[in-house]
Amino acid sequence: MKILVVGSGGREHTIVWKIARSPKAEKIYCAPGNGGISELAECVDINVMDKEGMVKFAKEKEIDLVMVAPDDPLADGMVDAMESAGIRAFGPRKNAAIIEGSKAFSKELMKKYNIPTAAYEVFDNSADAIKYLEKGSFPAVIKADGLALGKGVIIAKDLDEAKQAVCDMIDGGKFGKSGSRVVIEEFLTGPEVSVLAFVDGKTVKPMVSAQDHKRAYDNDEGLNTGGMGTFSPSRLYDEDKAKECMENIFLPTVKAMAAEGRPFKGVLYFGLMMTKDGVKVIEYNCRFGDPETQVVLPRLKTDLVDIMEAVIDERLDELEIEWEDNAAVCVVMASGGYPVSYKKGYEISGIEDAKDMGAIVFHAGTALKDGKIVTAGGRVLGVTAVAENLDEAIKKAYASVEKISFKDEFHRSDIGIKKYN
Ligand code: AMP
Ligand code: GLY
Repeated sequence: MKILVVGSGGREHTIVWKIARSPKAEKIYCAPGNGGISELAECVDINVMDKEGMVKFAKEKEIDLVMVAPDDPLADGMVDAMESAGIRAFGPRKNAAIIEGSKAFSKELMKKYNIPTAAYEVFDNSADAIKYLEKGSFPAVIKADGLALGKGVIIAKDLDEAKQAVCDMIDGGKFGKSGSRVVIEEFLTGPEVSVLAFVDGKTVKPMVSAQDHKRAYDNDEGLNTGGMGTFSPSRLYDEDKAKECMENIFLPTVKAMAAEGRPFKGVLYFGLMMTKDGVKVIEYNCRFGDPETQVVLPRLKTDLVDIMEAVIDERLDELEIEWEDNAAVCVVMASGGYPVSYKKGYEISGIEDAKDMGAIVFHAGTALKDGKIVTAGGRVLGVTAVAENLDEAIKKAYASVEKISFKDEFHRSDIGIKKYN
């Protein structure tokens, strides 16, 4: 089969790496891809939002399967565009991608179908929002309705901060159209866990659990980032929790989407919090998480191409999906200054040495320049180690990280060692 993966980050490198292990994959393209992906796939310079260009390329090359990985093109209808052109595509259609694309939509869905989540109200007028906040308790959680590159959530510790956040979003145009409507939510506490699931519209098959570290520095200090590292499995997500989630959250969500005439097909990401009142949904994403994918897919035994085909053909119930009984840790190596501002173009050394230590080095923001791999983004590499348990995986990941260097590099030293776990 000829397969095209849409996207360019560490998640996409992991997806391409997994697809490359399938005997069905004869040729892999990635648009636009990155320096690491180019070792496994032919990278083509098409912007992820260029639906027309992407469809044209897929037709020209007679692509058998398109895997759309990032949220923006999914929310914009890339899968619909492929299907209209008669091309098989993996990922939710636009009317289902809204589960991530609008927080007001997802909150209303959960309320209507009794899916546990934080209490909330939706506002598109700052005066009403402030009136509501004045009566509420703190901290309060303020979320931009639309996609905001993972930065649209503010935890306001008092009324002043909350007012500021609301005014910035609704009146100040922060996050553009995505912030013109806000969701104000009750602040919940408890350990978080991410569970990604394959969904074919009716059947849901959860993957192994994972946990992200969103803050830039050790001990969860510093700004929120796209994710500084992950580990799998979570130490707290046991069989009882999995059963509770399947009954109260996973199946009800998939049924709710079908009942709304928006059947979800693809990967549904459940961002969960284990509160003292049970597991609640913090967020849905309509795609593989980044960098969760970097620790989940290396533990998948089953051929990913087989799974994607079963999802597209709505026969996921017939497929047994198998996982390794092991653990994985991914440490993100970032450019100094990320997530605010950073320089690009520094040469990276030691990747081969890290691979010799047994690590899988996924490229997030790299480019090939004059035959050398250079930095090309905030998150540069995701160094993943797989071992029989988490402690071994942590050791192996950090031993591998030590082998790699580039100017101004930084990473967290506590990935996998969360205070809650
Ligand atoms: P999101 O972009 O929705 O995943 O939110 C980013 C982060 O904000 C989450 O991973 C949580 O740590 C935090 N967060 C979001 N909603 C809440 C909430 N209702 N209570 C407490 N923390 C929250
Ligand atoms: N790691 C969080 C996300 O992919 O949204």
